[in-house]
Amino acid sequence: MPVVIAVVNQKGGVGKTTVSACLADYLSQRGHSVVIVDSDPQESSVDWGALRAKTGRSEHALVQYKKSPIRVVGLCQPKSFVDDVLALQTDYVIIDGASNLKGITRHTIGLCSIAIIPVTPSSYDLWAMDKILDETKGVRKLVVVNRAIRHSMDTDLIQAELARLNEPNLVLMNAMLYQSVNYSRSIIYGETPILFRNGSARKDIEIFCKEAFKVMESIEGAHYG
Ligand SMILES: Nc1ncnc2c1ncn2[C@@H]1O[C@H](COP(=O)(O)OP(=O)(O)OP(=O)(O)O)[C@@H](O)[C@H]1O
Ligand SMILES: [Mg+2]
Repeated sequence: MPVVIAVVNQKGGVGKTTVSACLADYLSQRGHSVVIVDSDPQESSVDWGALRAKTGRSEHALVQYKKSPIRVVGLCQPKSFVDDVLALQTDYVIIDGASNLKGITRHTIGLCSIAIIPVTPSSYDLWAMDKILDETKGVRKLVVVNRAIRHSMDTDLIQAELARLNEPNLVLMNAMLYQSVNYSRSIIYGETPILFRNGSARKDIEIFCKEAFKVMESIEGAHYG
């Protein structure tokens, strides 16, 4: 059975698709088979996967880079969702969550080893977390701040907002994904900022993925990542 990681938040535009792609790219680069399940009818991950399949890295002017295989499937039919995910022959399934919490998200939560919740560093995002916490009771959750502004992050405030939510299964990650133009630059190649060898976003993603898999190992005693 694959290890299932859910990237969820009912708030739109916080980075669910971005984080899903980055996790998948990181794992795939390390030789693991990965399937991204796009549970969002918008199908951003499906579009990204289609671009990835047809755009060779050699077309990129900046680096020579071997493209790692990532399958992306669109599954947004609640009826068959659980069976379809469990039938996937792969080491890892990353579920790119939809903003709508009904149906699929509940199934997603039932399947995953861990839920990763991206939030932007805004109180509006943090105040809106009650709903996703309601939906993810009993599941270990990692909150990652995405689109953080380098050198100007007030982590104490974020920590205080999260403490107010009083959710025992929730951990704020030390790693943050900072605002970077390399995200939008890499999407057009069906890539992630891991593509840019000297980019700081690549380093951010590596630190984030290492921390996420370390937490998973500490929960399940298995070796991940
Ligand atoms: N760290 C970042 N730096 C710069 N741009 C980012 C970063 N993270 C995400 N973005 C951009 O923000 C936008 C929203 O990100 P994304 O699509 O991943 O969010 P989402 O939660 O999946 O949205 P939706 O709820 O619509 O599915 C995208 O254009 C993406 O490229
Ligand atoms: Mg999305």
